[in-house]
Amino acid sequence: MITRLPSADFHVVIVGAGLGGAACAIACARQGLRVTLFDAVPKFFPLGDSVGFGSNTTKLFKRWGMYDDMWAISSRAEESVMRNWDGAVITVDSTLGQAEERYGHKALIGHRGQYHEIFINHCRKNGVDVRMGVKIEKYDVAKPSVFLPTGEEILADAVIAADGVKSHGRTQVLGIEDAPIHSGYAVWRAYSDSAIFKDDPLVSPLLDKDTTQLWIGPDLHGFVTTIRDGTGINAVLTHKDVADISEGWNLPAERQDILDAVKGWDPVFVRVWEKIQNIIDWKLVYRPCLDQWVNSTGLVAIMGDARGPFLPTSTQGASQAVEDGATVALCLARAGKGNVPLALRTYFELRYEHVKGAQAIGISQRTKWHSLHNKTSMKMEKELDTSKGILDSYSLWTHDAEKAVEDGWNEASAKVRREMQGSNQTV
Ligand SMILES: Cc1cc2nc3c(=O)[nH]c(=O)nc-3n(C[C@H](O)[C@H](O)[C@H](O)COP(=O)(O)OP(=O)(O)OC[C@H]3O[C@@H](n4cnc5c(N)ncnc54)[C@H](O)[C@@H]3O)c2cc1C
Ligand SMILES: *[C@@H]1O[C@H](CO)[C@@H](O)[C@H](O)[C@H]1NC(C)=O
Ligand SMILES: *[C@@H]1O[C@H](CO)[C@@H](O)[C@H](O)[C@H]1NC(C)=O
Ligand SMILES: *[C@@H]1O[C@H](CO)[C@@H](O)[C@H](O)[C@H]1NC(C)=O
Repeated sequence: MITRLPSADFHVVIVGAGLGGAACAIACARQGLRVTLFDAVPKFFPLGDSVGFGSNTTKLFKRWGMYDDMWAISSRAEESVMRNWDGAVITVDSTLGQAEERYGHKALIGHRGQYHEIFINHCRKNGVDVRMGVKIEKYDVAKPSVFLPTGEEILADAVIAADGVKSHGRTQVLGIEDAPIHSGYAVWRAYSDSAIFKDDPLVSPLLDKDTTQLWIGPDLHGFVTTIRDGTGINAVLTHKDVADISEGWNLPAERQDILDAVKGWDPVFVRVWEKIQNIIDWKLVYRPCLDQWVNSTGLVAIMGDARGPFLPTSTQGASQAVEDGATVALCLARAGKGNVPLALRTYFELRYEHVKGAQAIGISQRTKWHSLHNKTSMKMEKELDTSKGILDSYSLWTHDAEKAVEDGWNEASAKVRREMQGSNQTV
């Protein structure tokens, strides 16, 4: 569905077709820009497990015509149950079931790989030129352009690097190598068909109705989420990474390590980890939000995980990447061809504080959960305020990234114009 006629002469190159880059491509195409989207991977496999989107990202998906496809594969969970490590219920949070009333839209929880497939299909439907198997490592930030591995140069009006945590685009934008740092934690993650639990007396009750369950213990927390009417089951456990594992989405985990970590815990949670398949150990890398997202030429910018990945406890990594993409698209469309530096700097201006705040929630949330217990006695010694629900990130569910551009454009772009004049750069 193309909402506006493509303007063949305003060309945006996006490097990286993850959830963030693909969302940016869809949003740009809907603004009538010509979009070429590159990804290094020749073919996407449904890697990863569950990912969540808060309510106001759902709002963007509705506007972009993707919501129905996404809802069809999403969890039907209406509650999140928070438990102590021994299984005692701390609180039952009904935000998921009430999100439509409270925030106007449901939140979405589903399999990242399946969502990703929908994103790529919608890129194609919107006329995005999706080019797979093309790794982009060389840019010309002044033209701007990117170079294919064959040496071919692709010219654009704007280049957006959405190439994830290990971004090459970031190096281009900053002019220096900047690597994310180890957070000190890793996450055991697994996703499998729930049929293996069908006859299990402990776990099968979780499959009757989609649910998300959270267990917290001393310096550990984990989730179990069932998806698509209980047909898929996802388990996640964040733990201290003492072994300093390598980075990636396919490092197999030792089941025994996990069972040792949750020894004596709620038998339901233990049983999930005894049986679940496809467990990986995923190193949690982090870097504080960069304070520069746009190269001094104003023609190349980074977005999504490239500008600083989120901790899973923020529950907002994917949402914030999508919101970045929506903001880039509207800023480019507003400023128009020939005004790309104004557009990209205003994008930064509109997003920086919001993203930084969202990212910080991930840290404070983890600290809150991981420090409730006395590590020796395992007793919960601090009280957890769950009056506003279990997640501090619910506060972000009211944001509307597109409306923020509409409302904030005049002020933010005027500020950017003044700065650009001050430093004698062309607008
Ligand atoms: C395989 C995989 C599985 C994931 N699984 C989960 C999950 O289960 N749960 C969860 O919460 N989050 C998961 N994430 C992370 C989550 O998708 C991101 O944190 C979030 O969506 C922000 O996305 P992004 O688009 O900024 O970056 P990413 O999703 O990391 O996407 C970056 C894209 O850029 C491509 N790329 C990288 N370098 C280049 C290059 N030089 N040239 C061209 N293309 C390049 C990559 O192939 C990738 O497709 C996963 C990410 C990946 C890559
Ligand atoms: C912009 O990009 C160029 C090329 O990567 C780099 O030399 C320069 O340092 C970058 N820096 C800034 C501040 O924009
Ligand atoms: C934790 O519990 C142990 C054993 O019950 C106790 O000796 C210790 O003082 C407690 N620690 C703190 C910090 O309260
Ligand atoms: C987010 O969405 C809700 C529901 O549609 C709306 O009431 C709220 O104003 C939105 N937030 C912003 C910042 O626009």
